[in-house]
Amino acid sequence: MSYANPEAPRRKVTVRTLRAMKQAGEPIAMLTAYDASFARVADAAGVDVVLVGDSLGMVIQGHDTTLPVSVDDIVYHGRAVAAGLDHALLLADMPFLSFRDEARAVINAGRFMQEAGAQMVKLEGGVAQLGVVEALVGQGIPVCAHLGLKPQSIHKLGAYLVQGRERDAAEHMLLEARELEDAGADMLLLECVPAALAERISKAVDIPVIGIGAGVGCDGQVLVLHDVLGITPGRPPRFVKDFMAGAGSIPEAIVAYVQAVKMRQFPGPEHCFD
Ligand code: KIV
Repeated sequence: MSYANPEAPRRKVTVRTLRAMKQAGEPIAMLTAYDASFARVADAAGVDVVLVGDSLGMVIQGHDTTLPVSVDDIVYHGRAVAAGLDHALLLADMPFLSFRDEARAVINAGRFMQEAGAQMVKLEGGVAQLGVVEALVGQGIPVCAHLGLKPQSIHKLGAYLVQGRERDAAEHMLLEARELEDAGADMLLLECVPAALAERISKAVDIPVIGIGAGVGCDGQVLVLHDVLGITPGRPPRFVKDFMAGAGSIPEAIVAYVQAVKMRQFPGPEHCFD
């Protein structure tokens, strides 16, 4: 197993590292993991941020949506992932309804920090969640806000669709990004957003912006591990690339993903939305 750049000294990634990477124009490579073995491979491959995503509801538990994932599930998988990490920052996803009020959000995010060793939590939300973001940040809990397609709202949306295509929706997303930054968010994730809008948002805020289906103009990229390994059943979404194709092993595929992100070779135009 080899590091993406075996010569480079690697230190533990922190919120400060991520900010410095944005300022230096170095793309941030993020990947999901749900257990210690894959976390170890991702860490060794040079992944900067490992996300214990609620996508585990679909890729690990076999549900159709992320909604059944519980706080206990994230604690359990977060603890396993933490055991495999030496360098990458551990980001824990806040499941459906686990941050519906400030007190509940602080208690649940606190469990991810205390029991699983997370260094940041992610929540799907915009201006309606500003109070929650402020409450978490007020307790010293770094927050990654998630805009664009919010899979926890699938039953309200009716389908997994690109968000922010209409002018008003695009302006609103930009405003939400700025307000979340002002509320203290340390990072922003954009899912299924037109590439031009995602680039505009990335330039408009000082915090790192990570994209999934949001184009190469973001400050970093994230994919679901099982998509990178080409083992998600069914037709993959447009923004996915199977890095196992052409790789000799799982560690090689993850190194290839990290290198493609770092060299801005992924995502290509074929993975993006207008
Ligand atoms: O849960 C997850 O894995 C995510 C990614 C799709 C970004 O939120």
